[in-house]
Amino acid sequence: PAILVLNGPNLNLLGTREPATYGSTTLADVERMCTARAGELGCTVDFRQSNHEGVLIDAIHEAGRTFKEGALLGVVFNAGAYTHTSIALHDAVRSVEVPVIEVHISNVHARESFRHHSWLSPVAAGIIVGFGVDGYVMAIEALARRASR
Ligand code: DQA
Repeated sequence: PAILVLNGPNLNLLGTREPATYGSTTLADVERMCTARAGELGCTVDFRQSNHEGVLIDAIHEAGRTFKEGALLGVVFNAGAYTHTSIALHDAVRSVEVPVIEVHISNVHARESFRHHSWLSPVAAGIIVGFGVDGYVMAIEALARRASR
C-alpha cells in the first residue's frame, strides 16, 4: 500500500525559508526520509506539494477514492498556512474516510496566536506538531501501526 504525503503552500521553500523555525532540511530531503522509512514498513510514498488550495482539495478527494480501493493507508498532511484559514480543506477531509494525519514542523502553539487554531485538527485522525521534519516520519509510522492493528 501507499501513503500520500501532501504538502501545502510555501513548503517548496523548505531549507531556505526561515531556517531558524523550519530547519535547513529541504523538501527533497524530507521525501527521501519518508520513502526510506515507508520502505522499511513495506509501503510506498506518493509525495506531493502544491501552493494551490484547490489542488490540495483534489488530492484529498483522490486519496479518498484510492483508500476505498484498498491501495492507500492514509495521508500525512502539512497544509501550511491553509491549516489556519481553510474551511474548504476541513470539508474535504471530513468528506472522505481515509485517515489524515496533520503534521506541523514547528510547534505552532508556541508561535503567533493566528497559528493556534487549526481547521484540520477536528477532522484529523491524529496530529504531530513541533518535532521538526521528523514529524513526517512519525506520521508514517503511526499510519503503518494503525493499519496493522
Ligand atoms: C507549518 C506551520 C504553519 O503555521 C505555517 O504557515 C507553515 C508551516 C509547519 O509545518 O510548522 O507554512 O505548517
